[in-house]
Amino acid sequence: RRPALPGRRAVAVTVPVVVAALLAMAGPATAAGPVGAPGVGDPYFPLAGNGGYHVSHYDLTLRYDPGSGHLDGKAVLTARATQRLTRFDLDLSGLKVTGLTVDRDRAAYRRDGQELVVTPRRPLRKGQSFRVTVTYRGTPAPVTDPDGSLDGWIPTDDGAFVAGEPQGAMTWFPANNHPLDKSSYDFTITVPQGRTAVANGVLLGRSTQHGKTTFRWRQSEPMAAYLATATVGRFQIKQYKTRSGIQVYDAVDPREAAAAAPVLKKLPSVLEWESKLFGPYPFRAAGSIVDHAPNVGYALETQTRPVYDSAPDLSTLVHESAHQWFGDSVSLTSWKDIWLNEGFATYAEWLYAEQHGGDSAQKTFDALYATPADDELWEFPPADPGSGANIFGTPVYARGAMALHALRTAVGDRVFLRVLRAWADRHRYGHGTTAQFQRLAERESGKNLTALFRTWLHTDGKPAAP
Ligand code: ARG
Ligand code: ZN
Repeated sequence: RRPALPGRRAVAVTVPVVVAALLAMAGPATAAGPVGAPGVGDPYFPLAGNGGYHVSHYDLTLRYDPGSGHLDGKAVLTARATQRLTRFDLDLSGLKVTGLTVDRDRAAYRRDGQELVVTPRRPLRKGQSFRVTVTYRGTPAPVTDPDGSLDGWIPTDDGAFVAGEPQGAMTWFPANNHPLDKSSYDFTITVPQGRTAVANGVLLGRSTQHGKTTFRWRQSEPMAAYLATATVGRFQIKQYKTRSGIQVYDAVDPREAAAAAPVLKKLPSVLEWESKLFGPYPFRAAGSIVDHAPNVGYALETQTRPVYDSAPDLSTLVHESAHQWFGDSVSLTSWKDIWLNEGFATYAEWLYAEQHGGDSAQKTFDALYATPADDELWEFPPADPGSGANIFGTPVYARGAMALHALRTAVGDRVFLRVLRAWADRHRYGHGTTAQFQRLAERESGKNLTALFRTWLHTDGKPAAP
C-alpha cells in the first residue's frame, strides 16, 4: 500500500511485448526439441515466470555486504518438469552467473535480458524431478516497474529493503517469477555482525563468526516469489508467541521505533480480528519489518512478515495483514486480477474502521462515490486495469473495495462474510480468478451477480447511482 498514490503516467504498449506474450502462450517447440516458454503467458508481464516446470522449493544462500552493495548467492531449486524439456528459462535480472548445474551435471546457459536460458546436458522427461543449482554474484539493483516505482533489492543506508511485487524477485535470486508458481523456501543469509537479515517464516537460528552473522529462515507454506524478502539493516528485534501460538518476529529500524511501537503492539489483536472474519490465519509465523527507506514509497505484504518503508499507521498494518489471506495464501492467477488482492485488503481497512469506532464502510463508500466522474478513481475498471502500469492505481484499491461493498449490500452481511471466508478457505495456498470469485458469491448467495460484477469491476467510468 502506498501512503500517497503517484500521479498517472503514460502507458506505452510496445509491439515486441505483445509478440512475446503470444510466443509465451504458444509454448514454442524448436528444431532443438521442446523448450520451456520464457513466460507463463501473463498479458501484463509476458516474460514473468517460465513455462515447462514447477519449483517446489528454493534453498537460497546469500551473503550481503551493505558497505559495498555486493551480494554472493547460491540458489538450489527443486523442480519438476511439466513437459519434456530440452531447454528452460529462469528469471534473473542483473548479477553475474558463475556456475550452473542441473542435478549433478554442468549445464549450458546464456543470458537474454531477464531470461536465464538453461540447456541441461540431457533433456528432462515430462514429470521428471530435477535440481538446479545456480551460483551468482554482483551488485543487485531494483527494477523499474511500468508505473515508475522500484521493486526488488533496494539498497538503503544500512542494508537493503527487499520487496518484489510484481517483478523484483529476479533481482536477487533466479526464479520462476510469477504468482502461479508457489514454493517453500529456506534462506541462509550472512551479513556483517550488528546487522540483521530478515526473511519470511520462522527463524531457525543465528550464529556469529569472525564478525559476520548468519540467519537461517524457513518459509514452509507455499509462497509466490514476489512475496519473498531478505531485508537487511540495523534493527531492534522483538520475538514472542501470540495466544494462538503464532511465532511473531518484529524487526524495526531504531529511527522508526517510537512511531512504530504503538502500531506493532496491535498486530496480535488485528490478526485475531481478521481470523474471526476471514478464517484461521494461514501461516505459523507473523511479524513486521519496519525499515527506514524514504526512497521506496510503499509497503509490501511479504509473506508472514510485511515490510514497511517507515512506521506504518494502523490502517496500513490492517491492510498488509489482510493480504496474508488475500494475496499471499490465495494468490493471483494473473496480474490483471490484482483487485482480488488490493480491493480485499482495502475493504479490510474499511471493516476495521467500522468495527473500531471509525467511519462505517457505507460512509467511506459514499464519500468515494461523491468524487466527480473525471476523478482518477473512475479511470479504468478494477478487474481490467489494462496494463501493468495500472496495477497499483486508485481504481484497483478504492473501486475494488467499493465493488466488495456493493456485493455486501446486495447479499447482506451474513452471506458476504461467508463468501469471504469460503474464498480464503477453498483457495487456501492456491490461486483464484475474478470469475471464480463471482461464481462463489453467486453460489453462496443464490443470486445472479452478473450485472453487479459487470458494473463495479468490468465497466469503464463511474457507475450510475448504486
Ligand atoms: N501490494 C502492496 C500493497 O498494496 C503495494 C506494492 C507496490 N509495489 C510497487 N512496486 N509499487 O500493500
Ligand atoms: Zn495492498
